[in-house]
Amino acid sequence: MSNTISVEDQKVLVARTAIDKLISEGLIYSGMKIGLGTGSTAMPAVKRLAEYIAKGKLKNIAAVPPSFQTSIACEEFNIPIFSLSSGRINGSLDLTIDGADEIDSKKNLTKGGGAALLREKIIAYNSELFVVIGDETKSVKTLGVNFPLPIEIVPEARLSIMKKLESYGVSMIIRDGIRKKGPVITDNGNFIMDIKWPANAKINPVKLESELNAIPGIIENGFFTQKPPRVFLSHSNGTVEEF
Ligand code: 5RP
Repeated sequence: MSNTISVEDQKVLVARTAIDKLISEGLIYSGMKIGLGTGSTAMPAVKRLAEYIAKGKLKNIAAVPPSFQTSIACEEFNIPIFSLSSGRINGSLDLTIDGADEIDSKKNLTKGGGAALLREKIIAYNSELFVVIGDETKSVKTLGVNFPLPIEIVPEARLSIMKKLESYGVSMIIRDGIRKKGPVITDNGNFIMDIKWPANAKINPVKLESELNAIPGIIENGFFTQKPPRVFLSHSNGTVEEF
């Protein structure tokens, strides 16, 4: 018999553990404004939050979703949702909890596997506290090598962006839809370009995060280096580490 738990179970474990711990520490509380992320790790966190709301242990929560996936989940679980610019939220959040595709030892992240990086970054960077939850497969030495960096781009600029990116020595692909012919269209009506550095590349995600956004047509990239998160990471032995 194996003593290890699957990656899927690790996602649920880390999501529930993080929500429970943040509530016990008073960092998730009634009346707060919370950003909720996208993806298969964020969804069990949304569900756990909804359980506390349904039991009356959390009241008057105002959530901001960064994607249709999260909006729909909040509607299904009766979590009240608002836009970041609504009067209730007024452009800033108390806490955002979200997943990540990669986390390095300095807590820099790659995000955007679910194509929601643009609004995920907006809510994360406008939160007092940013919390990232992930399973152990998300922990990496170098970002952008195993998991490609997603970039949200204006469709019209795809070829000019590719030409500019040639000097970075990356491979690039416009992300295609699954069970939809042609490119993925983001929740904001744009394309996603996935770029990947060679295995031996020395990359500086802090520098690249701002540099890439200076290329005309790039709206946002999936490096998150400007808002160091509190990280919860689950392991296959059933433990959850914090750093
Ligand atoms: C979506 C994201 C997700 O947080 C990231 O892709 C991780 O997803 P999952 O929890 O499903 O592994 O950035 O844009």
